[in-house]
Amino acid sequence: MAIELQTIIDLIRYGASRFNASGLTYGHSYDNALDEATQLTLHALHLPHDLSPVYGQARITEAEKEEVLALFLRRIEERIPAAYLTGEAWFAGLSFKSDPRALVPRSPIAELIEAGFEPWLGGREVRRALDLCTGSGCIAIAMAHYNPDWHVDGVDLSEEALSLARENEQRLLVKNLRLLKSDLFSALQGEHYDLIVTNPPYVTNDETDALPKEYSHEPELGLRAGDDGLDLALRILRDAPLHLTDDGILICEVGEAEQALVQLLPELPLAWVEFKVGQMGIFVAERHDLVTHNARIRELADAREAKATATGSLF
Ligand SMILES: C[S@@+](CC[C@H](N)C(=O)[O-])C[C@H]1O[C@@H](n2cnc3c(N)ncnc32)[C@H](O)[C@@H]1O
Repeated sequence: MAIELQTIIDLIRYGASRFNASGLTYGHSYDNALDEATQLTLHALHLPHDLSPVYGQARITEAEKEEVLALFLRRIEERIPAAYLTGEAWFAGLSFKSDPRALVPRSPIAELIEAGFEPWLGGREVRRALDLCTGSGCIAIAMAHYNPDWHVDGVDLSEEALSLARENEQRLLVKNLRLLKSDLFSALQGEHYDLIVTNPPYVTNDETDALPKEYSHEPELGLRAGDDGLDLALRILRDAPLHLTDDGILICEVGEAEQALVQLLPELPLAWVEFKVGQMGIFVAERHDLVTHNARIRELADAREAKATATGSLF
């Protein structure tokens, strides 16, 4: 099979062509076929992910070729995200274990962590930071890693996600992190943070139902967030002031639900972060603004909670 494929670069090129021809969806940490084919090839060959291009012409054995092609086939036929096939995802320059217990780390919040959250912190001192909806633990662990003097909490509702986060905590040897099971802030009564960062579920019901097959390998609890994608975000906006220090800030990702949020709360001052590629649905909110607008936010969040309780759905 495929006897013409002789070198590492042959395999990568072949994989990328097959991926494109098969109409795969990218976006789980790599955004194109060549990068995915490169990572799957290097993983199967037990080579470093940043292998120097000079090794591209190195020949592979028949057994190695079969291993790489078998991985390509699983990517194509089962539509498994590459990170779940390799068991690894890179986030904020750190290597995380990745498997279906939690979403593949891919939030643009990585860039903010690497920039020390400036200019958003504006030099404010952070002693305690919270990552709500921590999943694999990527945001909490990266914050703890780059800021060893911070005390970081990471919470999630999913025991499975937390078990992966604990493995990542050990993998990256962070010592200033506490991981807890909590339905948003419910297990955090009386706790206050200078910085709350969150990438909650924000995909609308319709979008969740229509997502490409790659996403079906991820836990739905990490994606689905009601008719407009804001079920979780509104609860977070409502309750964050109780857990922020006086001049604390909330940084929250709502992705495509950005427009719906602006329409729902046009009066709430939110600073939308500009990335090199433009806005990516991540806002920064000051505690005092959340307090000023709390009555309206509460009204919206409470109405959804009441509806969810009445229909017995998870909110
Ligand atoms: C979009 S994922 C983000 C995971 C991780 N922070 C990241 O950036 O890759 C959202 C996470 O929220 C968790 N989650 C969903 N509902 C929750 C709730 N009510 N309270 C706490 N966590 C929740 C899910 O289990 C999932 O791990």
